[in-house]
Amino acid sequence: MSLQAEEPLVRRLIEIRRRLHANPELSGEEFETTAAIREWLGQEGIRIADYPLKTGLVAEIGGLREGPIVALRADIDALPIQEETGLPFASRRPGAMHACGHDFHTAALIGAAVLLKRREAELPGTVRLLFQPAEEKAKGAAQVIESGALSGVAAVFGLHNKPDLPVGTIGIRSGPIMAAADGFAVEVDGKGTHAAVPEAGLDPLITAAHMLTALQSIVSRNVSSLDSAVVSVTRLSAGTSWNVIPEKAIFDGTIRTFDEGVRAEVRRRFEQVVDGVAAAFGTTARTRWTGGPPPVVNDPRWAHSAAIAAKRAGLAVVEPKPSPAGEDFALYLKEAPGAFVFLGTNGPREWHHPAFDVDESALPHAAAYLASVALQALAELSGEKSAGSEPDEAHAEAVTRA
Ligand code: NI
Repeated sequence: MSLQAEEPLVRRLIEIRRRLHANPELSGEEFETTAAIREWLGQEGIRIADYPLKTGLVAEIGGLREGPIVALRADIDALPIQEETGLPFASRRPGAMHACGHDFHTAALIGAAVLLKRREAELPGTVRLLFQPAEEKAKGAAQVIESGALSGVAAVFGLHNKPDLPVGTIGIRSGPIMAAADGFAVEVDGKGTHAAVPEAGLDPLITAAHMLTALQSIVSRNVSSLDSAVVSVTRLSAGTSWNVIPEKAIFDGTIRTFDEGVRAEVRRRFEQVVDGVAAAFGTTARTRWTGGPPPVVNDPRWAHSAAIAAKRAGLAVVEPKPSPAGEDFALYLKEAPGAFVFLGTNGPREWHHPAFDVDESALPHAAAYLASVALQALAELSGEKSAGSEPDEAHAEAVTRA
């Protein structure tokens, strides 16, 4: 049986994606989305697994025989963005939009579920479907893990649409593919005074200005040229008047890294610079870290299997550059090895843009890939010969590309 969705199923998946797109729900508020997914899966006779989640849900296919568990994940939440696509199925909710294509991911996983359900009797294990809430706030993966849904999972897979890759291609790489996204907030405490009498105070603005400049030396002086990092201060706030030196200055921003060692070193240097500059100006400062996800690091073995599966699903495999965006899929990879891939959607705009869109002709590719990678992983884990035809050709191709 082919993994390619036939025309009625493709139309159905596009309909599902458009319905989700028109009715976006923000992170942690995906109640209607969850109900709709439950209904669609129910129509296909797919069983909902009982994990305690406020929004989002877990379903399972297979398990008719004792065997390994493989998880597939789609994120389901939208962003607080006012949509400007002008699409006939544009968001009906002011200030909310599926601007990262999680509607596409959800529809793709439903498509994979339908394809896998047709083969349920032959599955040598269980495919667990994770419809995850709150990815945009980097909270949902932790909730899914907390619910116990990763328990027993031998390998976990997910995808993200990629506007700059053409439809029909898939970006797979071993090692890091998305960044750790750490947030920071720094509060500098000085001593306020009249602007005409600065010697009577301790100026938090001058201190913060020196910190901002000095922090930019971390990437250039403390990170190897062979590694990479981004330190961006994105907001600075201080003062209320032109003739008053304020008590406080506050700034925040983000750090992106692809390696846990680099991440730890950049954070260590960040605090050292903040504390040292504060001391130099006689002020005090506190750094507060707002936890982002760690880097998404693909397991070499499963990246390789993903490439085989992608080839079987008829996709061209390319090696993409890692993205400096964050993804809480990283947390699943701390629980079980797996691979996260970029699926080409030839979009007009980058993620999180008000005119973001996907080419829907990529939807059957995404569904086929997810089904294929689950079959491939189950076959490998259960020690059977890989499913599908032309194993040697697919394998050879994957080896050269992965
Ligand atoms: Ni996203």
